[in-house]
Amino acid sequence: MEVAGKVIVVTGGAVGIGRALVERFAKAGAKHLVVVDLDAANANAVATSVGGTGRRVDVASASAIAALVEEIETTIGPIDLFCSNAGILPVDSDPNNAASTPEAEWTRTWQVNVMAHVHAAAALLPRMIARKSGYFLQTVSAAGLLSQIGSAAYSTTKHAAIGFAESLAITHRDHGIKVSCLCPQAVQTPMIAGVSKMNGADIDGVLTPEAVAEATIEGLAKESFLILPHPKVATYIVKKAENYDRWLGGMAKLRRSLL
Ligand SMILES: NC(=O)c1ccc[n+]([C@@H]2O[C@H](COP(=O)([O-])OP(=O)(O)OC[C@H]3O[C@@H](n4cnc5c(N)ncnc54)[C@H](O)[C@@H]3O)[C@@H](O)[C@H]2O)c1
Repeated sequence: MEVAGKVIVVTGGAVGIGRALVERFAKAGAKHLVVVDLDAANANAVATSVGGTGRRVDVASASAIAALVEEIETTIGPIDLFCSNAGILPVDSDPNNAASTPEAEWTRTWQVNVMAHVHAAAALLPRMIARKSGYFLQTVSAAGLLSQIGSAAYSTTKHAAIGFAESLAITHRDHGIKVSCLCPQAVQTPMIAGVSKMNGADIDGVLTPEAVAEATIEGLAKESFLILPHPKVATYIVKKAENYDRWLGGMAKLRRSLL
């Protein structure tokens, strides 16, 4: 997909990777950008900077996402590309216990990192199927393909997000609907500024959000399911598939070295 001339929604667009996507899509000639975030002030500021529309929406709410889609399609036009980018990164409450995150935090992480993608698809699929076109970009993470040491809830929900994206891509390929998963390792955003330990996420370097947005434009142009701004992630996936037990041993060794 070329983004020029397209109506695009970016969730979590107020800062970080989402903001960089909005700015890159604007530069590439997008027709209209809708910037969605819990942070209304920054969402509106980013939207204004690209002549778009800002909206304060909690992506975890199915009814709020449905209302947003209805509003955009009625007042702006059909959504060509919906980017479910908002995400949260909880860290294990006890780094020596993978089940230590409180249940409420697991639930919230599940809602934002997984169900938000489902809510967007539920609101858009009937419209996209009728139009025989549409594109979902899911910002996931390399943690959804590999793992994130020290955050079981993040790793688990990001794996689930990949699972849902695969179902979308398989079920709706013949409806003309495309899906990509953006899976970076560490990116310099407020998200990682808020964690005290990188726990190996920065092993191949920390990218700028702008570099991730550039990789995304290229991945969308190729309509690749996986967009990997850190190319080494592709080799790690192969190693994991080749010998899962050896890969788990290597990850445990890496964890030990980080203690
Ligand atoms: N930064 C990284 O190293 C990194 C690496 C891999 C993947 N990711 C993923 O990229 C995406 C963006 O990450 P980022 O680093 O830019 O994050 P960030 O925390 O810097 O920004 C996320 C934005 O999403 C918004 N948001 C959070 N919950 C929301 C909700 N329920 N409804 C609406 N908006 C909400 C926040 O207000 C914030 O503006 C996330 O899905 C994250 O998991 C980030």
